[in-house]
Amino acid sequence: MERQIKKLKEEKNAVILAHYYAPDEVQRTADYIGDSFYLAKVAKNSNADIILFCGVSFMGESAKILNPDKKVLMPDPSADCAMAHMVRDGIIEEMREKYEDLAVVCYINSTAELKSKSDVCVTSSNAVKIVKNLPNKNIFFIPDKNLGSFVAEQVPEKNIIINDGCCPIHAKIEKKHIECEKEKHPNAKILSHPECEKEILDISDYIGSTADIIDYAKKSECTEFIICTEDGVNYKLTSDNPEKRFYFPNPRPCCKDMKLNTLESILSVLEKEDKVIEINEELRTKALIPLERMLELAK
Ligand code: 13P
Ligand code: SF4
Repeated sequence: MERQIKKLKEEKNAVILAHYYAPDEVQRTADYIGDSFYLAKVAKNSNADIILFCGVSFMGESAKILNPDKKVLMPDPSADCAMAHMVRDGIIEEMREKYEDLAVVCYINSTAELKSKSDVCVTSSNAVKIVKNLPNKNIFFIPDKNLGSFVAEQVPEKNIIINDGCCPIHAKIEKKHIECEKEKHPNAKILSHPECEKEILDISDYIGSTADIIDYAKKSECTEFIICTEDGVNYKLTSDNPEKRFYFPNPRPCCKDMKLNTLESILSVLEKEDKVIEINEELRTKALIPLERMLELAK
């Protein structure tokens, strides 16, 4: 099947992008694998006629917003991020009324509609840098409370109002699960995604996006790590570092939606070109502004 995908991809000038949480065989077949920020940049600069995005819907949507003239396909557009919707209707408008100089900072894990109401997007790899450099004192951070609180701790000079959303996968990781791994592997360093709860971040040796975690593990002299994020990162961690050991909390964090990206669905969508991501033009142009601002401010 991998050979058929490769052949079709070349015939159609298609490029496959996969997030680090996609299944191993999908990451192996992709032309680019990365975190949300890296993949948004790849999508923006791509010369391919077709972008096939193996992630969840906000990622395919962002690729389309940045690339209106390209055909953006997803193997399974029903793959969604639960957190992307976790902002109550009307709350952005209420906050804007309350604070005159408010900047609405929107984690890229959000719907196009939420982006269209925001001032700037961020990802887990650039949120601190972007918030720090905004001229506004008052920030409404949506939708993730955990990333929002992490940013607030790093940027104490701002008044950061935090929305109440969270990633159900990262939120399920508990301190006792990590302590249990630490007991078994006392020399292991704890590397965590900022979507984890504060109690996890407080006991971590390093906090960063999926790409940052992978980079840290590669450069570190340590040979054992407890990884507090979705288990898809294990593919890159183990292929980059065959001599190192990676442990995950039990139960192992797994985003079911990311796993909807399968080789079968990639082949089918490449053959039929049927799972096309479309966005209403008015919404797209509004959502483009915060995404482009992020790409500019993160430079
Ligand atoms: P990254 O910013 O590390 O790609 O994280 C995306 C994500 O969905 C985390 O749950
Ligand atoms: Fe969304 Fe969480 Fe899945 Fe990431 S792991 S895509 S934040 S539900």
